[in-house]
Amino acid sequence: MIVRSIASEAEASVLCWFATVSPKGIPNVSPKEVFALLDEKSLVVADIASPNTVRNLQHNVQACVSFIDVFRQTGYKLAGQARVIPPQDDQFGALVDPLIDITQGHFNIRNVIHLHIETASPIVAPSYRVFPDKSLSDRIAGVLQVYRVKDAERMSRGG
Ligand SMILES: Cc1cc2nc3c(=O)[nH]c(=O)nc-3n(C[C@H](O)[C@H](O)[C@H](O)COP(=O)(O)O)c2cc1C
Repeated sequence: MIVRSIASEAEASVLCWFATVSPKGIPNVSPKEVFALLDEKSLVVADIASPNTVRNLQHNVQACVSFIDVFRQTGYKLAGQARVIPPQDDQFGALVDPLIDITQGHFNIRNVIHLHIETASPIVAPSYRVFPDKSLSDRIAGVLQVYRVKDAERMSRGG
């Protein structure tokens, strides 16, 4: 099995990409770092600076989110209906807790976006099909090279 459980993939993913649709049918997608899978049917995302996502969901609840572990190059696409839950909602306190665990309280979470997961589709990089026998360590070594992780380390040290 190449793709792990939704929980493992979500845990290993730094970012998710959250897609909504505007009232005029125009797609919108933006990255979110503060997200948590509560169970196989629920994902929560922090609205810290996402006015368009929130506005779109207030008109159309359909949403789609994808995330990948960039090093393994596997992940999931989740789709369903999403609700914007403001602080005055009774559910806000319980749903925001896992997000505060991530931010450590450093960011103001204006709303919780709660996705009720209706479909979950695994995402696998095409290289798994093209090079099925490649080891995981060779895959990760290749990814580190493509993403220039060594260069980034050196640059961040000022070298
Ligand atoms: C690495 C990264 C992580 C981010 N994480 C979040 C997040 O968790 N929540 C949030 O509301 N905005 C987050 N943002 C900011 C939004 O993506 C950004 O404000 C975007 O323009 C919002 O677009 P929207 O209004 O279409 O949702 C993040 C941005 C970056 C670059």
